[in-house]
Amino acid sequence: MSTTPTKNLRVAKVNAEASGIVTIELVDPAGGPLTPFSAGAHLDVHIPGGFLRQYSLCNDPAETRRYVIGVQRDRASRGGSQRLHDTTGIGDILGIGGPRNNFPLAEGAQRHRLIAGGIGITPMMAMLSHLVAFGADWHLDYCAREPSVTAFRDRLTAAPYAGRVAFHYDGGDPAKGMDVRKALAAQAPGEHLYCCGPTGLMDAVKAASSHWAPGTVHFEYFVNEQVDASVNTAFKIKIVSSGVVLDVPAHKSVMQVLREAGHDIDSSCEEGICGTCATPVKKGVVDHRDMVLSDEEKATNRWMMVCCSRAKSDLIVLDL
Ligand code: FES
Repeated sequence: MSTTPTKNLRVAKVNAEASGIVTIELVDPAGGPLTPFSAGAHLDVHIPGGFLRQYSLCNDPAETRRYVIGVQRDRASRGGSQRLHDTTGIGDILGIGGPRNNFPLAEGAQRHRLIAGGIGITPMMAMLSHLVAFGADWHLDYCAREPSVTAFRDRLTAAPYAGRVAFHYDGGDPAKGMDVRKALAAQAPGEHLYCCGPTGLMDAVKAASSHWAPGTVHFEYFVNEQVDASVNTAFKIKIVSSGVVLDVPAHKSVMQVLREAGHDIDSSCEEGICGTCATPVKKGVVDHRDMVLSDEEKATNRWMMVCCSRAKSDLIVLDL
């Protein structure tokens, strides 16, 4: 299980970026280089008190000696972000897993359209560093309630970003915010769209881009509102390597059943948003309940997130 951190990093800086939002810079305590990451990647952060959360990296992926994550104080959260805001200081050691990237920039795209809502700006900042460095064609729409809660605002209104970023302030009323339907009415040749933000914004963007070419619209979710255990039914899984068939009752996940049978399954979020538990599927129709795989990937039935996804067929054959 990846509930054990893969490395311990030292907090080198904590910066207030906007009201309720800080960035935390993490470095190797011995001063060494860190595992490289690509734009859109996130870290699993083990927070004192037993919390495990995913935070996007917002610094330039070309940097090799620091990770920077953006953390918004979420008063409605289960405590992880509040703990980071209230108790994390310079010199503290945090356990880290990753980096892992479920939200990469599309190679070969001719134009990149980015839509960020609130703290959803964090992976976009790493993307912008990369896009600027490679001279790519891009545009960012940044939606927020008001300037005081808009992280990185000063940076985004200066070179090299100024002129390519549009800010949309709704004052707390989404009806007064960005007109996504109008903005996404037309897709330029080779254009890809990336969106990260509150569920309402992502749902609106998904609906407004439904006519875009398959595989060109990408989302990064940090909550999974699709998981509804009340509709669970029982099914069976078969393990290719051993031929063993296991029952998955309605009250257990595939991950639980696999672990009880002695399989070592890595996990992090355990709610279908991080991609750590992706398991290859040989046969069967998966009831995908994760927010990691695209609709196209889900349709292939080649992978399933065993922490949350279940079965539409009586049997799923797992390539383990
Ligand atoms: Fe995160 Fe399954 S553990 S998607």
